[in-house]
Amino acid sequence: MKQKMRVGIIGGGLMGREAASAFGRWFVLDDMPVQAELVAVCDLQDKLLNWFQGVPTVQLLTKNHEELLNSPAVDVVYVAVPHNLHEKLYTDVLRAGKDLLAEKPFGIDLAAARAIANATATSGRFVRCSSEFPFLPGAQRVIQAVTSGRLGRLLEIRSGFWHASDMDPNKAVNWKRQNKTNGEIGVMGDLGMHVVHVPFRLGWKPLRVYAQLQKVYTQRPDGKGGMAPCDTWDNAMLHTEVLVDGNEVPMRLEMKRLAPGEMNTWFLEVLGTEGGIRFSTKDPKTLWVFERAKEQGWQRIDIGYQTPFSTITGGIFEVGFPDCFLQMWAGFAAERAGALNGRFGCATPNEALASHALFAAALKSHADKCVVALD
Ligand SMILES: NC(=O)c1ccc[n+]([C@@H]2O[C@H](COP(=O)([O-])OP(=O)(O)OC[C@H]3O[C@@H](n4cnc5c(N)ncnc54)[C@H](O)[C@@H]3O)[C@@H](O)[C@H]2O)c1
Repeated sequence: MKQKMRVGIIGGGLMGREAASAFGRWFVLDDMPVQAELVAVCDLQDKLLNWFQGVPTVQLLTKNHEELLNSPAVDVVYVAVPHNLHEKLYTDVLRAGKDLLAEKPFGIDLAAARAIANATATSGRFVRCSSEFPFLPGAQRVIQAVTSGRLGRLLEIRSGFWHASDMDPNKAVNWKRQNKTNGEIGVMGDLGMHVVHVPFRLGWKPLRVYAQLQKVYTQRPDGKGGMAPCDTWDNAMLHTEVLVDGNEVPMRLEMKRLAPGEMNTWFLEVLGTEGGIRFSTKDPKTLWVFERAKEQGWQRIDIGYQTPFSTITGGIFEVGFPDCFLQMWAGFAAERAGALNGRFGCATPNEALASHALFAAALKSHADKCVVALD
Protein backbone atom coordinates (compact mmCIF):
# COMPACT_ATOMS: atom_id res chain seq x y z
CA MET A 1 0.00 0.00 0.00
CA LYS A 2 1.52 3.35 -1.07
CA GLN A 3 1.80 6.24 1.36
CA LYS A 4 -0.70 9.00 0.44
CA MET A 5 0.33 12.63 0.00
CA ARG A 6 -2.91 14.64 0.19
CA VAL A 7 -2.41 18.06 -1.43
CA GLY A 8 -4.28 21.34 -1.06
CA ILE A 9 -3.74 24.13 -3.58
CA ILE A 10 -3.90 27.84 -2.74
CA GLY A 11 -4.07 29.78 -6.02
CA GLY A 12 -5.78 27.83 -8.77
CA GLY A 13 -4.68 29.99 -11.72
CA LEU A 14 -2.14 29.07 -14.39
CA MET A 15 0.14 27.04 -12.12
CA GLY A 16 -2.49 25.72 -9.72
CA ARG A 17 -4.25 23.99 -12.61
CA GLU A 18 -0.90 22.74 -13.96
CA ALA A 19 -0.35 21.05 -10.58
CA ALA A 20 -3.81 19.45 -10.78
CA SER A 21 -2.82 18.03 -14.15
CA ALA A 22 0.35 16.52 -12.65
CA PHE A 23 -1.61 14.74 -9.89
CA GLY A 24 -4.17 13.60 -12.49
CA ARG A 25 -1.56 11.51 -14.29
CA TRP A 26 0.50 10.49 -11.28
CA PHE A 27 -0.02 6.84 -12.24
CA VAL A 28 2.46 7.16 -15.14
CA LEU A 29 5.23 7.24 -12.51
CA ASP A 30 6.80 3.82 -12.02
CA ASP A 31 8.06 2.67 -8.72
CA MET A 32 6.90 5.67 -6.66
CA PRO A 33 6.44 4.94 -2.96
CA VAL A 34 3.95 7.83 -2.66
CA GLN A 35 0.51 8.40 -4.17
CA ALA A 36 -0.35 12.11 -4.61
CA GLU A 37 -3.97 13.17 -4.46
CA LEU A 38 -5.49 16.65 -4.83
CA VAL A 39 -8.08 17.04 -2.04
CA ALA A 40 -8.68 20.78 -1.55
CA VAL A 41 -8.44 24.05 -3.51
CA CYS A 42 -8.63 27.69 -2.52
CA ASP A 43 -8.98 30.51 -5.03
CA LEU A 44 -10.87 33.79 -5.05
CA GLN A 45 -12.45 33.28 -8.48
CA ASP A 46 -15.66 31.28 -8.99
CA LYS A 47 -14.74 30.27 -12.54
CA LEU A 48 -11.55 28.60 -11.27
CA LEU A 49 -13.29 26.84 -8.38
CA ASN A 50 -15.82 25.57 -10.94
CA TRP A 51 -12.96 24.22 -13.06
CA PHE A 52 -11.64 22.22 -10.08
CA GLN A 53 -15.07 20.60 -9.66
CA GLY A 54 -13.95 18.45 -12.60
CA VAL A 55 -11.21 16.86 -10.43
CA PRO A 56 -12.92 13.87 -8.76
CA THR A 57 -10.64 13.64 -5.68
CA VAL A 58 -11.31 17.26 -4.57
CA GLN A 59 -13.44 17.38 -1.40
CA LEU A 60 -13.10 21.05 -0.45
CA LEU A 61 -13.41 24.18 -2.61
CA THR A 62 -13.10 27.46 -0.75
CA LYS A 63 -12.28 31.15 -1.08
CA ASN A 64 -10.77 31.24 2.42
CA HIS A 65 -7.25 29.78 2.69
CA GLU A 66 -7.62 29.37 6.49
CA GLU A 67 -10.44 26.90 5.85
CA LEU A 68 -8.12 24.83 3.65
CA LEU A 69 -5.32 25.04 6.24
CA ASN A 70 -7.68 23.91 9.02
CA SER A 71 -8.61 20.78 7.09
CA PRO A 72 -7.04 17.63 8.60
CA ALA A 73 -7.40 16.02 5.15
CA VAL A 74 -4.51 18.16 3.80
CA ASP A 75 -0.85 17.07 4.33
CA VAL A 76 0.95 19.29 1.81
CA VAL A 77 0.03 22.71 0.44
CA TYR A 78 1.05 24.05 -2.97
CA VAL A 79 0.84 27.84 -3.14
CA ALA A 80 0.79 29.62 -6.53
CA VAL A 81 -0.28 33.22 -5.99
CA PRO A 82 1.09 36.71 -6.88
CA HIS A 83 4.43 37.53 -5.24
CA ASN A 84 3.08 40.18 -2.82
CA LEU A 85 1.12 37.36 -1.11
CA HIS A 86 3.98 34.84 -0.75
CA GLU A 87 5.22 35.82 2.71
CA LYS A 88 1.76 35.89 4.32
CA LEU A 89 0.43 32.71 2.75
CA TYR A 90 3.62 30.61 3.02
CA THR A 91 4.05 31.48 6.71
CA ASP A 92 0.35 30.76 7.32
CA VAL A 93 0.83 27.28 5.80
CA LEU A 94 3.82 26.61 8.07
CA ARG A 95 2.00 27.90 11.14
CA ALA A 96 -0.82 25.46 10.35
CA GLY A 97 1.74 22.62 10.50
CA LYS A 98 1.58 21.62 6.82
CA ASP A 99 4.44 20.81 4.45
CA LEU A 100 4.88 23.23 1.57
CA LEU A 101 5.83 23.32 -2.09
CA ALA A 102 5.48 26.92 -3.15
CA GLU A 103 6.14 28.96 -6.21
CA LYS A 104 9.18 31.06 -6.83
CA PRO A 105 10.49 33.61 -6.16
CA PHE A 106 9.61 32.78 -2.51
CA GLY A 107 8.73 36.32 -1.46
CA ILE A 108 8.42 39.66 -3.21
CA ASP A 109 11.88 40.80 -2.05
CA LEU A 110 14.87 39.83 0.09
CA ALA A 111 13.16 40.80 3.37
CA ALA A 112 10.15 38.58 2.58
CA ALA A 113 12.47 35.73 1.52
CA ARG A 114 14.31 36.02 4.86
CA ALA A 115 11.01 35.92 6.77
CA ILE A 116 9.96 32.78 4.84
CA ALA A 117 13.37 31.14 5.46
CA ASN A 118 13.12 31.89 9.21
CA ALA A 119 9.57 30.53 9.39
CA THR A 120 10.71 27.41 7.53
CA ALA A 121 13.61 26.83 9.93
CA THR A 122 11.47 27.17 13.06
CA SER A 123 8.56 25.13 11.65
CA GLY A 124 10.53 21.94 11.04
CA ARG A 125 8.25 21.27 8.05
CA PHE A 126 9.42 19.94 4.67
CA VAL A 127 9.56 22.96 2.35
CA ARG A 128 10.68 23.31 -1.25
CA CYS A 129 10.53 25.97 -3.98
CA SER A 130 9.11 25.27 -7.41
CA SER A 131 11.58 25.06 -10.34
CA GLU A 132 10.86 22.33 -12.86
CA PHE A 133 13.16 22.74 -15.88
CA PRO A 134 16.19 21.00 -14.30
CA PHE A 135 14.10 17.80 -14.25
CA LEU A 136 14.16 17.66 -18.07
CA PRO A 137 16.39 14.91 -19.50
CA GLY A 138 18.61 17.44 -21.32
CA ALA A 139 19.18 19.45 -18.14
CA GLN A 140 20.01 16.26 -16.25
CA ARG A 141 22.61 15.38 -18.92
CA VAL A 142 24.26 18.77 -18.43
CA ILE A 143 24.43 18.16 -14.67
CA GLN A 144 25.91 14.68 -15.24
CA ALA A 145 28.54 16.05 -17.63
CA VAL A 146 29.62 18.67 -15.10
CA THR A 147 29.76 16.30 -12.12
CA SER A 148 31.67 13.66 -14.14
CA GLY A 149 34.57 16.14 -14.43
CA ARG A 150 34.99 15.36 -18.15
CA LEU A 151 34.66 19.03 -19.17
CA GLY A 152 38.09 19.75 -17.67
CA ARG A 153 38.80 23.16 -16.19
CA LEU A 154 35.69 25.28 -16.63
CA LEU A 155 35.98 28.32 -18.90
CA GLU A 156 32.48 29.75 -18.93
CA ILE A 157 28.89 29.10 -17.75
CA ARG A 158 25.74 30.55 -19.30
CA SER A 159 22.26 29.96 -17.90
CA GLY A 160 19.12 31.69 -19.07
CA PHE A 161 15.40 31.91 -19.60
CA TRP A 162 13.98 33.93 -22.46
CA HIS A 163 10.39 34.91 -23.32
CA ALA A 164 8.95 37.11 -26.03
CA SER A 165 5.85 37.43 -23.86
CA ASP A 166 6.04 41.23 -23.59
CA MET A 167 7.12 42.09 -27.15
CA ASP A 168 3.57 43.24 -27.99
CA PRO A 169 3.20 46.77 -26.49
CA ASN A 170 -0.59 46.37 -26.68
CA LYS A 171 -0.63 43.36 -24.37
CA ALA A 172 -2.67 44.31 -21.30
CA VAL A 173 -0.92 44.81 -18.00
CA ASN A 174 -1.27 42.13 -15.30
CA TRP A 175 0.14 41.57 -11.80
CA LYS A 176 3.46 40.26 -13.20
CA ARG A 177 4.16 43.66 -14.82
CA GLN A 178 3.82 45.83 -11.70
CA ASN A 179 6.29 46.31 -8.85
CA LYS A 180 3.58 46.31 -6.17
CA THR A 181 2.50 42.73 -6.98
CA ASN A 182 5.51 41.22 -8.79
CA GLY A 183 8.29 42.99 -6.88
CA GLU A 184 10.95 45.51 -7.78
CA ILE A 185 13.15 42.64 -8.99
CA GLY A 186 10.80 42.34 -12.00
CA VAL A 187 11.86 39.69 -14.50
CA MET A 188 14.38 38.27 -12.00
CA GLY A 189 11.47 37.34 -9.70
CA ASP A 190 9.58 35.91 -12.64
CA LEU A 191 12.33 33.84 -14.27
CA GLY A 192 15.38 34.03 -11.98
CA MET A 193 14.90 30.93 -9.82
CA HIS A 194 14.69 28.84 -12.98
CA VAL A 195 18.05 30.23 -14.06
CA VAL A 196 19.98 29.82 -10.80
CA HIS A 197 18.61 26.46 -9.60
CA VAL A 198 21.16 24.25 -11.40
CA PRO A 199 24.15 26.60 -10.93
CA PHE A 200 23.43 26.87 -7.19
CA ARG A 201 22.95 23.09 -6.91
CA LEU A 202 26.33 22.58 -8.59
CA GLY A 203 27.86 24.87 -5.98
CA TRP A 204 28.27 27.86 -8.28
CA LYS A 205 27.34 30.79 -6.04
CA PRO A 206 28.27 34.22 -7.48
CA LEU A 207 31.12 36.01 -5.71
CA ARG A 208 30.13 39.31 -7.32
CA VAL A 209 27.67 40.65 -9.87
CA TYR A 210 27.47 43.36 -12.48
CA ALA A 211 23.87 43.75 -13.65
CA GLN A 212 22.36 45.25 -16.77
CA LEU A 213 18.62 45.79 -16.32
CA GLN A 214 16.21 47.13 -18.93
CA LYS A 215 12.71 48.63 -18.70
CA VAL A 216 11.25 49.21 -22.13
CA TYR A 217 7.44 49.60 -22.07
CA THR A 218 6.63 51.71 -19.01
CA GLN A 219 2.85 51.60 -19.45
CA ARG A 220 0.41 49.15 -20.96
CA PRO A 221 -3.34 48.98 -21.65
CA ASP A 222 -5.23 48.34 -18.42
CA GLY A 223 -7.86 46.23 -20.17
CA LYS A 224 -10.56 48.82 -19.37
CA GLY A 225 -9.84 51.33 -22.13
CA GLY A 226 -7.08 53.23 -20.30
CA MET A 227 -3.38 52.80 -19.61
CA ALA A 228 -1.69 51.49 -16.45
CA PRO A 229 1.90 51.75 -15.22
CA CYS A 230 4.15 48.84 -16.16
CA ASP A 231 7.15 49.43 -13.92
CA THR A 232 8.91 46.06 -13.68
CA TRP A 233 12.32 45.30 -15.18
CA ASP A 234 11.77 43.54 -18.52
CA ASN A 235 15.25 42.13 -19.11
CA ALA A 236 18.16 41.30 -16.81
CA MET A 237 21.68 40.22 -17.67
CA LEU A 238 23.75 39.34 -14.60
CA HIS A 239 27.48 39.05 -15.21
CA THR A 240 28.88 37.09 -12.30
CA GLU A 241 31.97 35.12 -11.25
CA VAL A 242 31.91 31.82 -9.41
CA LEU A 243 34.64 29.73 -7.82
CA VAL A 244 35.08 26.28 -9.39
CA ASP A 245 37.95 24.09 -8.11
CA GLY A 246 39.76 27.19 -6.85
CA ASN A 247 39.45 29.07 -10.16
CA GLU A 248 37.20 32.05 -10.86
CA VAL A 249 34.88 31.33 -13.78
CA PRO A 250 32.59 33.82 -15.55
CA MET A 251 28.89 32.92 -15.30
CA ARG A 252 26.27 34.89 -17.21
CA LEU A 253 22.65 34.67 -16.06
CA GLU A 254 20.04 35.94 -18.53
CA MET A 255 16.36 36.59 -17.79
CA LYS A 256 14.28 38.24 -20.51
CA ARG A 257 10.65 38.98 -21.23
CA LEU A 258 11.69 40.90 -24.33
CA ALA A 259 13.61 38.23 -26.25
CA PRO A 260 12.59 38.41 -29.91
CA GLY A 261 11.54 35.03 -31.28
CA GLU A 262 11.56 33.16 -27.97
CA MET A 263 8.39 31.57 -26.65
CA ASN A 264 9.65 29.92 -23.45
CA THR A 265 13.34 29.11 -23.81
CA TRP A 266 15.28 27.76 -20.82
CA PHE A 267 18.92 26.97 -21.54
CA LEU A 268 22.18 25.99 -19.89
CA GLU A 269 25.65 25.85 -21.41
CA VAL A 270 28.93 24.91 -19.75
CA LEU A 271 32.28 25.14 -21.53
CA GLY A 272 35.53 23.62 -20.30
CA THR A 273 39.05 22.95 -21.56
CA GLU A 274 38.24 19.31 -22.37
CA GLY A 275 34.61 19.51 -23.37
CA GLY A 276 31.39 21.46 -23.51
CA ILE A 277 27.69 20.78 -23.16
CA ARG A 278 24.61 22.75 -24.12
CA PHE A 279 20.85 22.19 -23.75
CA SER A 280 17.91 24.39 -24.62
CA THR A 281 14.16 23.77 -24.39
CA LYS A 282 13.93 25.35 -27.85
CA ASP A 283 15.08 22.00 -29.14
CA PRO A 284 14.07 19.64 -26.32
CA LYS A 285 15.28 16.41 -27.96
CA THR A 286 18.74 17.80 -28.68
CA LEU A 287 21.84 17.74 -26.55
CA TRP A 288 24.93 19.45 -27.92
CA VAL A 289 28.20 17.90 -26.78
CA PHE A 290 31.77 18.97 -27.48
CA GLU A 291 34.92 16.97 -26.83
CA ARG A 292 38.32 18.48 -27.41
CA ALA A 293 40.04 16.87 -30.40
CA LYS A 294 42.03 17.95 -33.43
CA GLU A 295 38.86 18.97 -35.25
CA GLN A 296 36.53 21.62 -33.76
CA GLY A 297 33.07 20.10 -33.84
CA TRP A 298 29.95 19.97 -31.72
CA GLN A 299 28.03 16.69 -31.78
CA ARG A 300 24.24 16.76 -31.84
CA ILE A 301 22.76 13.92 -29.80
CA ASP A 302 19.09 12.96 -30.01
CA ILE A 303 17.82 12.41 -26.48
CA GLY A 304 14.55 10.77 -25.48
CA TYR A 305 12.46 10.38 -22.34
CA GLN A 306 15.08 9.58 -19.67
CA THR A 307 13.60 11.44 -16.72
CA PRO A 308 14.99 11.26 -13.14
CA PHE A 309 11.80 9.49 -11.96
CA SER A 310 11.01 6.61 -14.30
CA THR A 311 7.63 6.43 -16.01
CA ILE A 312 5.72 4.08 -18.28
CA THR A 313 6.43 6.46 -21.20
CA GLY A 314 8.62 4.95 -23.92
CA GLY A 315 12.26 5.99 -23.78
CA ILE A 316 12.24 7.30 -27.38
CA PHE A 317 9.29 9.66 -26.89
CA GLU A 318 9.38 13.46 -26.60
CA VAL A 319 9.38 15.38 -23.35
CA GLY A 320 7.61 18.66 -22.52
CA PHE A 321 6.57 21.17 -19.85
CA PRO A 322 3.85 19.05 -18.14
CA ASP A 323 6.39 16.21 -17.92
CA CYS A 324 9.04 18.20 -16.08
CA PHE A 325 6.39 19.68 -13.81
CA LEU A 326 5.23 16.16 -12.88
CA GLN A 327 8.87 15.13 -12.38
CA MET A 328 9.38 18.05 -10.00
CA TRP A 329 6.38 16.91 -7.95
CA ALA A 330 7.76 13.37 -7.96
CA GLY A 331 11.02 14.82 -6.63
CA PHE A 332 9.16 16.65 -3.88
CA ALA A 333 7.13 13.56 -2.89
CA ALA A 334 10.13 11.22 -2.95
CA GLU A 335 12.37 13.53 -0.92
CA ARG A 336 9.60 14.18 1.61
CA ALA A 337 9.23 10.40 2.01
CA GLY A 338 13.01 9.92 2.39
CA ALA A 339 13.17 8.09 -0.95
CA LEU A 340 15.07 10.51 -3.20
CA ASN A 341 17.89 7.95 -3.51
CA GLY A 342 20.40 10.26 -5.17
CA ARG A 343 17.96 11.63 -7.72
CA PHE A 344 17.58 15.35 -8.38
CA GLY A 345 15.60 17.26 -5.75
CA CYS A 346 13.55 20.46 -5.79
CA ALA A 347 15.05 23.86 -5.08
CA THR A 348 15.49 24.42 -1.34
CA PRO A 349 14.43 27.43 0.74
CA ASN A 350 18.13 28.33 1.14
CA GLU A 351 18.60 28.32 -2.64
CA ALA A 352 15.56 30.59 -2.96
CA LEU A 353 17.00 32.91 -0.30
CA ALA A 354 20.38 32.98 -2.09
CA SER A 355 18.58 33.89 -5.33
CA HIS A 356 17.00 36.89 -3.58
CA ALA A 357 20.39 37.99 -2.21
CA LEU A 358 21.70 37.90 -5.79
CA PHE A 359 18.72 39.83 -7.20
CA ALA A 360 18.99 42.48 -4.48
CA ALA A 361 22.71 42.85 -5.31
CA ALA A 362 21.78 43.10 -8.99
CA LEU A 363 19.38 45.99 -8.27
CA LYS A 364 22.16 47.78 -6.41
CA SER A 365 24.70 47.06 -9.13
CA HIS A 366 22.43 48.48 -11.81
CA ALA A 367 21.46 51.56 -9.77
CA ASP A 368 25.10 52.42 -8.89
CA LYS A 369 26.60 51.12 -12.16
CA CYS A 370 29.12 49.10 -10.18
CA VAL A 371 30.15 45.54 -9.31
CA VAL A 372 28.55 44.30 -6.07
CA ALA A 373 30.21 41.60 -3.93
CA LEU A 374 28.11 38.83 -2.38
CA ASP A 375 28.75 37.02 0.93
N1 LIG B 1 7.07 27.31 -12.10
C1 LIG B 1 6.70 27.95 -13.19
O1 LIG B 1 7.07 27.59 -14.29
C2 LIG B 1 5.82 29.15 -13.06
C3 LIG B 1 5.16 29.67 -14.19
C4 LIG B 1 4.30 30.77 -14.00
C5 LIG B 1 4.14 31.33 -12.75
N2 LIG B 1 4.81 30.80 -11.68
C6 LIG B 1 4.65 31.36 -10.32
O2 LIG B 1 3.41 30.87 -9.81
C7 LIG B 1 2.81 31.85 -8.98
C8 LIG B 1 1.42 32.17 -9.52
O3 LIG B 1 1.54 32.52 -10.89
P1 LIG B 1 0.38 32.16 -11.93
O4 LIG B 1 0.96 32.41 -13.28
O5 LIG B 1 -0.20 30.84 -11.63
O6 LIG B 1 -0.65 33.33 -11.58
P2 LIG B 1 -2.21 33.43 -11.88
O7 LIG B 1 -2.53 34.87 -11.82
O8 LIG B 1 -2.57 32.64 -13.10
O9 LIG B 1 -2.87 32.67 -10.62
C9 LIG B 1 -2.83 33.20 -9.33
C10 LIG B 1 -4.12 32.80 -8.65
O10 LIG B 1 -4.05 33.17 -7.28
C11 LIG B 1 -5.36 33.48 -6.89
N3 LIG B 1 -5.33 34.21 -5.63
C12 LIG B 1 -4.95 35.51 -5.41
N4 LIG B 1 -5.06 35.80 -4.10
C13 LIG B 1 -5.48 34.68 -3.47
C14 LIG B 1 -5.78 34.36 -2.12
N5 LIG B 1 -5.66 35.25 -1.13
N6 LIG B 1 -6.22 33.11 -1.83
C15 LIG B 1 -6.37 32.21 -2.83
N7 LIG B 1 -6.10 32.45 -4.12
C16 LIG B 1 -5.67 33.68 -4.44
C17 LIG B 1 -5.91 34.28 -8.06
O11 LIG B 1 -7.34 34.32 -8.07
C18 LIG B 1 -5.34 33.50 -9.24
O12 LIG B 1 -6.24 32.52 -9.73
C19 LIG B 1 3.78 33.04 -8.95
O13 LIG B 1 4.60 32.93 -7.83
C20 LIG B 1 4.59 32.87 -10.23
O14 LIG B 1 5.88 33.42 -10.16
C21 LIG B 1 5.63 29.74 -11.82
